[in-house]
Amino acid sequence: MTNIVHNLGLDLVRATEATALNSGRWLGLGKYEETHRAATKAMFEALSQIEMDGCIVIGEEGRLGEHSPLDSGRSVGKGRGPQVDVAVDPIDGTTSVVRGRPGAISVVGVAPQGSMWDPTPAVYMDKIVVDREAAESLVPECMDAPAAWTLALVARAKKKAVRDLQVIVLDRPRHQDLIEEVRNAGARVLLNFDGDTAGALIAASYQVGADILMGIGGVPEGVTAACAVKAMGGAMLGRLAPQSQEEKEAIRFAGLDPNKILTCDELVSSNQIFLAATGITHGPLLDGVRYRGHEATTHSLLIRCETGTRRIIKAEHSIEWFQLDEN
Ligand code: FBP
Repeated sequence: MTNIVHNLGLDLVRATEATALNSGRWLGLGKYEETHRAATKAMFEALSQIEMDGCIVIGEEGRLGEHSPLDSGRSVGKGRGPQVDVAVDPIDGTTSVVRGRPGAISVVGVAPQGSMWDPTPAVYMDKIVVDREAAESLVPECMDAPAAWTLALVARAKKKAVRDLQVIVLDRPRHQDLIEEVRNAGARVLLNFDGDTAGALIAASYQVGADILMGIGGVPEGVTAACAVKAMGGAMLGRLAPQSQEEKEAIRFAGLDPNKILTCDELVSSNQIFLAATGITHGPLLDGVRYRGHEATTHSLLIRCETGTRRIIKAEHSIEWFQLDEN
């Protein structure tokens, strides 16, 4: 595996900033395709400027029914420099941007080539994420145990009452039973409209407001989240959770084990991870983009796993430099 010596993180944060600046222009306009395209274009162009030989492991997979330069398997970067696997999500929470709702981020992570788990063609994954304070309490049994059992372990590790825990769950009909279980256990539920990489980042951040993320979201978001969670010293468990017969068969055909409980280390094996995220719409962890005439402000998080460094970067940008598309 390549040794990543150069701090790629600062290059990556420029890519998430450029993506947030371009896609944030579409906030609340109700235009899904345009929002998605603006983000993809900005992210691809910014990644192309980086001295790295990147291969996208977690990409877009023909979201709009068309190929994207950010599809899995594509190359990104200048083609020279460290050989890296790339997990890219120009917007986690596209619908939130389109509808002007909070919590959307742009995110990209890299790790040495061969270290990210390739989940193709799986779509959904069951996940539990906690921060470093509760990391030791997250044991594989949590995946099948009643939510109350896991919550009791997490509460004990955090020296809190279960009543004081805040649990992030994606607001989806498939989570009706989970939400009931959490409420019956006495914990409080934070229903997340969209974006579970963002949710995982919040749950894995020490003392940001949520204690645990539970439930089924995207598999690509699971691998991206694992990069972030590992880099922040938190813990995550994931297991494929196919939501249709077609997905079940595709997983079986690809030889993926639907019963395997995956940890952060199995989702991304190296600790040479860099992950950058920039807020597009306002959220508990990151502010959204603010535009003021010819200037704009972005708020980003940059994490380096090897050293444990977390940088919070507030940047002032001159809009001309970014040549934002008119809309
Ligand atoms: P996009 O921004 O890519 O649309 O994803 C949003 C998201 O909420 C993910 O964060 C999450 O993993 C996935 O969608 C959940 O899928 P679904 O909306 O089908 O429940």
